[in-house]
Amino acid sequence: MGQVGRLLVIGVGLIGGSFALALKAAGACREVIGVTPQREAGEQAKTLGVVDRAYTHLPEALGLLQPGDLVFVAVPTLAVESVFAQLKDYLPAGVTVTDGASVKGSVRSAAEKVWGEMPSFLVPGHPIAGSERSGVSAARDDLYRDHRIILTPAPDTGADHLRRVVQAWQAAGAEVLEMSVEEHDEVLAATSHLPHVIAFSLVDTLAHDAENENIFRYAAGGFRDFTRIASSDPVMWRDIMLANREAILKAIDLYSLNLSSLRSAIASGDSAALMGVFTRAKAARDHFTKMLAKQAYSETMQAQEVTFIAQPGGTVSGKLRVPGDKSMSHRSIMLGSLAEGVTEVQGFLEGEDALATLQAFRDMGVVIEGPHDGRVTIHGVGLHGLKAPPGPLYLGNSGTSMRLLAGLLAGQGFDVSLTGDESLSKRPMNRVANPLREMGAIIETGPEGRPPLLVKSAGQLSGIQYQLPMASAQVKSAVLLAGLYAQGETSTVEPAPTRDHTERMLQGFGYSVERDGARATVCGGGELKAARIDVPADISSAAFFMVAAAISPGSDVTLEHVGINPTRDGVIHILRAMGGDIELQNTRTVGGEPVADIRVRYAPLRGILIPEAQVPLAIDEFPALFIAAACAQGETVLTGAEELRVKESDRIQAMADGLSVLGVSANPTKDGIVIAGTSGGPVFTGGTVDSLGDHRIAMAFAVASLRARDTIRILHCANVATSFPNFAELAVGSGLKLQQL
Ligand code: S3P
Repeated sequence: MGQVGRLLVIGVGLIGGSFALALKAAGACREVIGVTPQREAGEQAKTLGVVDRAYTHLPEALGLLQPGDLVFVAVPTLAVESVFAQLKDYLPAGVTVTDGASVKGSVRSAAEKVWGEMPSFLVPGHPIAGSERSGVSAARDDLYRDHRIILTPAPDTGADHLRRVVQAWQAAGAEVLEMSVEEHDEVLAATSHLPHVIAFSLVDTLAHDAENENIFRYAAGGFRDFTRIASSDPVMWRDIMLANREAILKAIDLYSLNLSSLRSAIASGDSAALMGVFTRAKAARDHFTKMLAKQAYSETMQAQEVTFIAQPGGTVSGKLRVPGDKSMSHRSIMLGSLAEGVTEVQGFLEGEDALATLQAFRDMGVVIEGPHDGRVTIHGVGLHGLKAPPGPLYLGNSGTSMRLLAGLLAGQGFDVSLTGDESLSKRPMNRVANPLREMGAIIETGPEGRPPLLVKSAGQLSGIQYQLPMASAQVKSAVLLAGLYAQGETSTVEPAPTRDHTERMLQGFGYSVERDGARATVCGGGELKAARIDVPADISSAAFFMVAAAISPGSDVTLEHVGINPTRDGVIHILRAMGGDIELQNTRTVGGEPVADIRVRYAPLRGILIPEAQVPLAIDEFPALFIAAACAQGETVLTGAEELRVKESDRIQAMADGLSVLGVSANPTKDGIVIAGTSGGPVFTGGTVDSLGDHRIAMAFAVASLRARDTIRILHCANVATSFPNFAELAVGSGLKLQQL
């Protein structure tokens, strides 16, 4: 690669030595020269192959450099200035200088002191990597691999110098980021310097506690994990504390405040406060653990690429329980949080969407235990007990979270902003913002009514009568939830029945909802009382296995404990109208919701004209139903379904594109699709289809493999985890030949 000519490392310890080894291993420099005041250390570095030549006298080594060479200053933070003073006199022109000090403000001050300004050849940097071990013998060529390097270039830093440093770090396998000196020092004070302060101080406290002389004899995993960093290099850490004093003091003050309120909670036996701190911290740490597993030191939890490879053929059979209903899981957290008392939920969907709602309420101060195996305990704070979250609420892929929260937050006394992933950021939000504004809410959206949403404290809302322009349970629910905070009555009138979980669950929490045909009315100013909620399995997830059994000869599958609320059962009616063999067994009511075991056996299907009245009742099931339509004799025609174009993807287009790739004639229309079915034998060719990151598109094409001639590859499937985290496992267990890469 040869990005740099010679590399001169000043201070050949763990940091400098590892950089030298990494560049050597990558073939990214011609020669490494080491400078270290102790001759023996230089000899050792040579013996270990870390440097090719070693010097004790810096000016002598600098004399060897030529334009295009790189100097890496890897000395303790407070020694940087004296190194700079020598560079000033002896550094040849055209040579780039970078450093690895953990505090950048002090490096900038040192440079300004020595040169009077930041010289253009100096590119300050900080590798976010290290080890509690120090010295050249600890150096490794992979220390920086998949770790982050923060560079803090100044406005006058030379572009060539910056490029040289970026390329060198990239050659070492690192990811390079840029930020301002101030931001760097503040972030590091909180995430690195404060933990070191606490670890050093804890070990020191324990080691000098006379009453516990033998303390280390009994110390186990917790002590070891927590205090590993207290065996880091004392000189380095002394320097960092002195160099980043202001930012570290700020971090210590904040921490001391939190520690003392934790102390008070322990002293007063305040179990709710303790659970609040511990559950929030656990959620945050679990999130970080996942980030570490996915990508070392990744800043955002980037959706990992998941591809489904579905081999053709097979049948499905057995008894399956698919995960809990997504709509009800969201609502259980929302209403449980706003209730008085402790709500117990079981059957909760541990998918990313519902977890985004859960985290949002944690961020607003609600103590929520779990989920553990679908059980969640919510310590409700009452309708007026939410607190302003510390930052924007990130709702991932979940439209339901964002729209329902917009309504619920419209009546709070604080401002909050709601953000989401790429797909959610494209979805229309004026459908909720407009009626909420009519109620007096103050809501700002991004361009064209897209997220992010800023919901501001607006004072008293007023009830409205709202005629929904589209059949949307999310819009209906947002308005009704805002109605809990509004003066007087709030009514919604829907153009066609949509899922009524909000109305049912409000009633389950003891809040009166008057229902009269298409109209639902709540009166503001009431109270929610904690409840027990049993979330049945999600019919929208069950639908993939219903279709799987319906299209593959020999299949016989029973989906247990599925919610068959009449506002959700369109998939049953549509499949039956197509000739599907569906039996509802053991029908019962659980927590105000009808539930059944659904048995589906293969039977030949025929194409139909889908009744428009069924569309809102099966709105999420169309990707699966389109696969059934492709396997039916004759044509299936869908109309009145323009809402499908504004789901997690444009589902009409996404399915039409994928079906065409797989050799099925599918013609999208403005508000639906016409699919030409094929009865008998394989229906789909093999091929690669793009789910566009839409969970339901991904699962639908996985099911298609049962009637495929060849392998189907489905791209961008990570979001299956939003609604159906164990889809691949259940699919394989029931007979699909699905592999997840
Ligand atoms: C949902 C309502 C529907 C549905 C979504 C969940 C809900 O959206 O597609 O998956 O939980 O209220 P719309 O209200 O946009 O139709």
